[in-house]
Amino acid sequence: MKIAIGSDHAGYKLKSIISGYLLESSHVIVDTGTDSTNSCDYPDFAARTARLVSIGEVDRGILICGTGIGMAITANKFKGVRATLCSNTEEAKLSRQHNHANIICLGSRSRSKEENLSILQVWLDTPVEGGRHRNRVKKIISLEQDNFK
Ligand code: RB5
Repeated sequence: MKIAIGSDHAGYKLKSIISGYLLESSHVIVDTGTDSTNSCDYPDFAARTARLVSIGEVDRGILICGTGIGMAITANKFKGVRATLCSNTEEAKLSRQHNHANIICLGSRSRSKEENLSILQVWLDTPVEGGRHRNRVKKIISLEQDNFK
C-alpha cells in the first residue's frame, strides 16, 4: 500500500518508529512531517496527510499526536476522509470493517508504543466489509456531497 504518515512534535518519535516498520514490510511511505520534536501545530500535518487521502494520492493515512484527537478532528474536514481514533485492536478492526476508515489517528501520550503498534497492525491488515456496511458508508459520502463545498 501507499501510506502517508504525519505527526506533530508529540507524535514525532512514534512516527519515526512506525515509518521504519512500514518500510521493512515494503509499503510505500509518504512522510508529511513534522521532522523533529520542536513544538508545532497538529492541524498543519493532519491537513497534509488528509489532503493526500482525499485526492486519492495514497491508499491510507496514519496521523499521530499526543492524543490523536486533534488529528482526527482536522482530518475529517477533508472530503472522502474517514479518520478514526482507535483505543484498542477491536475498535481498529471494526473501524475498517464497518466504517471503512482510511486514516487512523494514534495518541502517543495516551497509549504505550506496544499498544499503538498492535492497534496499527490490526488496522492495516483488516479489509473493509460490504453489504449493509457499504450502504452506511455511502450515506456518509452522500452527506459530504450535501455539506462540503
Ligand atoms: C500537543 O501538546 C497536543 O495538544 C497535541 O499533540 C494533540 O494531543 C492534540 O490533539
